[in-house]
Amino acid sequence: MIHHGLKGITCAETAISHIDGEKGHLIYRGYEAKVIALQSSFEAAAYLILYGTLPDAHELLDFQEKLTAERTLPKHIIDLLETLPHHMDDMAVLRTAISSLGTDSFAYPPRPEEAIRLIAVTPTIIAYRYRRIKGEEAAAPNAQYGHAENYLYMLTGRRPTEAQKKTLETYMILAMEHGMNASTFSARVTVSTESDLVSAVTSALGTMKGPLHGGAPSGVTKMLEDIGEKENAEAYLTAKLERGERLMGFGHRVYKTKDPRAEALRIKAEEVAGDDRSLDLALHVEQEAVRLLEKYKPGRKLYTNVEFYAAAVMKAIRFDDALFTPTFSASRMAGWCAHVLEQASNNMIFRPSATYIGSFPQAAQQL
Ligand code: ACO
Repeated sequence: MIHHGLKGITCAETAISHIDGEKGHLIYRGYEAKVIALQSSFEAAAYLILYGTLPDAHELLDFQEKLTAERTLPKHIIDLLETLPHHMDDMAVLRTAISSLGTDSFAYPPRPEEAIRLIAVTPTIIAYRYRRIKGEEAAAPNAQYGHAENYLYMLTGRRPTEAQKKTLETYMILAMEHGMNASTFSARVTVSTESDLVSAVTSALGTMKGPLHGGAPSGVTKMLEDIGEKENAEAYLTAKLERGERLMGFGHRVYKTKDPRAEALRIKAEEVAGDDRSLDLALHVEQEAVRLLEKYKPGRKLYTNVEFYAAAVMKAIRFDDALFTPTFSASRMAGWCAHVLEQASNNMIFRPSATYIGSFPQAAQQL
């Protein structure tokens, strides 16, 4: 029997995360990801994913200091970013820059300190490239700011508002880890050959780049832009459903109840919306869409998925669509590294087989 795409095949044991699509749970190391996202900082969540326990105050401070110290780009990466062609895809740039970090001390077996370095430096690479492509000076990392706040600062050159910071931080925690997805699997396969951590996350970045995985929020951002004002939502959504079209950002293959990540992002969005009209609009569109989907598609269990709120959050913090997949990757870097460390701690090389469907040599050809 052939398991195309390895669908439904269990190929590892993991203590990092668990997904229950029927009940709508995403568990990070024994904690509801939703709770972690709403109550912890990016740094505390990354520590949990990497080390398996929430940090105490001393451990958290130490981890924050290590992350802050590793944010700066080495000169050869700056030189590289300055020379890569302008038209190069943002994910290709990130993959190339991360891969180039492997010129220094990364080796098998992978170490947590290397993971810290990669988690710390990824936002700096993305922000550096983003500003330089726009013809602006790069903003050096600011040691006064936490991980998410500093990322926003490096992108814009301005200190973000508390609402912007909290919203991005919640998103980054929720995007940090999601089981044996395609990019995580890539990372584990690479390290299973006793290759190094940089090679493993470079594989993961190459996998994340594909639209079937890294996704794009453009369908949702376009819908929110087209709707424009709350009072247009019902008519717009109804017209789409009447035409038999799908509403972007609703429904999920695995989650048949509310996607817990969308739920947490909604709670955070509500908390910080204040006078931000785009979040307010997104909250209203969600309510209308869920109501209309139940009317037009009764019993199909169609709820808001993470893509909807990811797009809403990106719009609220004025992110270009181009930053979506790189930011997703900067968040998932923690999950990839944790999986690589876990794989290396109990390794067996991945080597599945394939059924040969080609031709065989004729008897006369045989020597
Ligand atoms: N809007 C309207 N109707 C929908 C939607 C939607 N977003 N999603 C599913 N349906 C309907 C289908 O038309 C179908 O109706 P029918 O029974 O009358 O034929 C029924 O619900 C079941 O649809 P399936 O495609 O079988 O559901 P599945 O669970 O396989 O699809 C998917 C999941 C692909 C995500 C789907 O819900 C969809 O296309 N959503 C919109 C795109 C989107 O938001 N993608 C991002 C997903 S999040 C992520 O990948 C990180």
